[in-house]
Parts: sequence; structure tokens; C-alpha cells
Amino acid sequence: MFDALAYRRSVETAAEAIRARTGLAPRIGLILGTGLGELAEKIEAEAIIPYEEIPGFPLSTVESHPGRLLVGTLSGVPVYALQGRFHLYEGYDAQTVVFPVRVFGVLGVDTLLISNAAGGMNPVYRKGELMLLSDHINFQNANPLIGPNIDDWGERFPDMSAPYDEALQQLAEEKALEAGIKLHRGVYVSVTGPNLETRAEYRMLRAWGADVVGMSTVPEVIAARHMDMRVLAISVVTDECFPDALEAVSLAEIIAAAGKAEPLLTRLVSAIVSAIGA
Ligand code: HPA
Repeated sequence: MFDALAYRRSVETAAEAIRARTGLAPRIGLILGTGLGELAEKIEAEAIIPYEEIPGFPLSTVESHPGRLLVGTLSGVPVYALQGRFHLYEGYDAQTVVFPVRVFGVLGVDTLLISNAAGGMNPVYRKGELMLLSDHINFQNANPLIGPNIDDWGERFPDMSAPYDEALQQLAEEKALEAGIKLHRGVYVSVTGPNLETRAEYRMLRAWGADVVGMSTVPEVIAARHMDMRVLAISVVTDECFPDALEAVSLAEIIAAAGKAEPLLTRLVSAIVSAIGA
């Protein structure tokens, strides 16, 4: 069975190791998924810590994710930024996937901003556009809260009526409007992957009420809400998943689409962080 005590100890050890490397104590944590690499360059880093230098930290196996933690300032505001996240499809269990979020929580992060790449199923969405998550569907048959609950971190049965902070969503919409960036608002459904979906699956997921589909984010959001962090998440629509007009898509195309949206997302997230920190 999941050893909650050992897990908690290793999260705390990792947090200590990070604390020892920096004088900053950010309250904002960023998870830079596919499409936010450029944002990392805008962070004035005080410490750059490869995951392998943090005891107990999982290692990124995905080539498009570098695997390091930046501690520094973005628009003058202190942030932690994870460059590279962990996915169920890599073979990690849900507790390992959310390990960095738990470390953030122990370090005192109270606001988590997440980006991801996702397939667009809403027919008005186009490749390269951004979507603010208003809600999600967990369709991964995994949950980072399974096992003994660590009561000091959060309650056994956390509420999920509003996983994405309403005030942060409004702020994001304001900043998008100011910057002239089109920002949809919709529902993200998580799958394990690693294969993309069949036409029949896209049809089903769309009928369930989802606007985009992706392979990450939901475990992290669940762990963050368990620890009572405010969460904001933004998807980059990297491919159009319309079941009656579906075209084959490769990872290279998905990464290229994410890369094209990168300047928009970088601008938007910088503006949001700056407003939160003000
Ligand atoms: N499905 C699942 N995950 C994804 C997709 C998709 O179509 N595109 C980018 N991530």
C-alpha cells in the first residue's frame, strides 16, 4: 500500500533541499508544460536546480521537457517554475506525478499556474489558440489522493465544486483582453495517453461536455486543491480533434503548434503573475 509517511518525509526533504539553495520564498508556483518554455527565459533565476539534484524528485523522461526547477522573479514577482512535469503515461503513479506540487505546498506556495498542450474538440477552437480551464473531467482512472490521507496537508474528501479560482480566471480574461489575445474558457478532460484518441473517443469526450483533451494537469490540480492552493490553468490547443474531419497528427506537429502559441502564452502569464504580485 502507498506509504504516506515515507512520501511525506521525502516531500519535506525535497523542500528542505530547495530552501537551502535560495533566499527567495515565492508564493506562486508555475508548471511550464509544453508551450511555455519561452517563459522560463523571462524568469530572472536566482537558482536553477536540475531535478536530479533534489532528493526524492522524480526525473523527467519526456524529451520535450528539460527537467529543472527555476527559483527567481518574473516581472519582479518571486516564483518557482517547474520546467518539465511528470505524466502517468511515463509509468509514474499519481502520487509521483504530483510530487512537485506537494513540495510547492510544503514550501508555502498558495497559487499554482499551470500550462498544458491539449487537443481541441470544441468546433470553434483553432490550433494555436488558448483556453482557460473553467472545469475538468478526471478520466484517467487515477487519483493522487488515494491511500491514507495526510491530514496536515488537506482533508480526506476535498471539495471540487470550483477547482479553478474564479478571481484568477477573471484576471486572466482581463489581461488577455488588454493584450488582444483570444482566450477561450472551457472544460479539460484528462486521459492517460500516450496514444491520441480515436474518432469514437473524441466524439464521446465531446458529448460528455469537454472542450479539450490532454494527458496532464488534472492530478496536479487535485493535489493543489487538496492543499487549498488557488489554481489557474491554460491549455494551448495544439491540434483539432473533430471526429468527422480528423487528420493524423504527429508529436512534432503538436510541439510545433505549441511553440507557435508560446509568445502569446508567455505574454499572458507574465501579465497575470505581475498583477498577482502587485
Ligand atoms: N489528445 C490528448 N492529448 C493531447 C492531444 C490530443 O489530441 N493534443 C495534445 N495533447
